[in-house]
Amino acid sequence: MFPLPRIMGHRGAAANAPENTLISLRRAAEQGAEWVEFDIMLSGDGVPMLFHDDNLKRITGRDAMMAETPLAELRELEAGAWFGPEFAGEPIPTFEEALALLLDLGLRPNVELKPSPGHDAQTAHAAIEVIRRCWPARRPPPLISSFSRQALEIAAHHAPQLPRGLIARRPPHDWIKVLRLFKCSTIHAGDRWLSQRIVQKIKHAGYGLAAFTVNDPHRARLLLERGVDCLITDAPGAIAEALR
Ligand code: G3P
Ligand code: MG
Repeated sequence: MFPLPRIMGHRGAAANAPENTLISLRRAAEQGAEWVEFDIMLSGDGVPMLFHDDNLKRITGRDAMMAETPLAELRELEAGAWFGPEFAGEPIPTFEEALALLLDLGLRPNVELKPSPGHDAQTAHAAIEVIRRCWPARRPPPLISSFSRQALEIAAHHAPQLPRGLIARRPPHDWIKVLRLFKCSTIHAGDRWLSQRIVQKIKHAGYGLAAFTVNDPHRARLLLERGVDCLITDAPGAIAEALR
């Protein structure tokens, strides 16, 4: 079975730093996380960036679509001030910059392909190209995960050596069919949908199981007792501490 960690930082360490920034990845490492999840979306000129929303407004203050904004314009924005004045000036990182930092920090990436609407194939191809170019083959490979079945299909076809995870807020009734179709090793589901019954079925079928987003220690303990392998959390340090 795929060796998921017990705890994985969500968007880096999103409770303690602005999500999907380099400082957030650093915070996750400082808190002892060995893995981080983050979101990958393409800029208007096709560069894979760490970003969650289709629109830039919540994070940067600029009301524009990520998919329509080229890298040069993204470089003029900042993604930290919304979270706290001490983070002002923190840029939106490229995927390439993030991978370089993760290699330095010794962190393993769970790369969530988060295509803007209609950009599923392009996002998957671009992300795979960056991994191929920037992630050494001797290091354990990044995990590719997505809600997008098209993105997973492309990853399975063009980068079969990279392990894959299906993300679903609620596991679909045909989850096992989908996991087999895209040769996924893991499934990542919204924690409130993970009843004892479904957890047992997924584990019995031999798949790794991650729950998101788990920030409450009681909930964390309960999910682990049910058999969930991995908690994707905004506060990897605090959750690890609470579980000790
Ligand atoms: O990868 C799991 C989780 O991050 C999926 O939801 O919206 O936080 O990207 P979201
Ligand atoms: Mg995500």
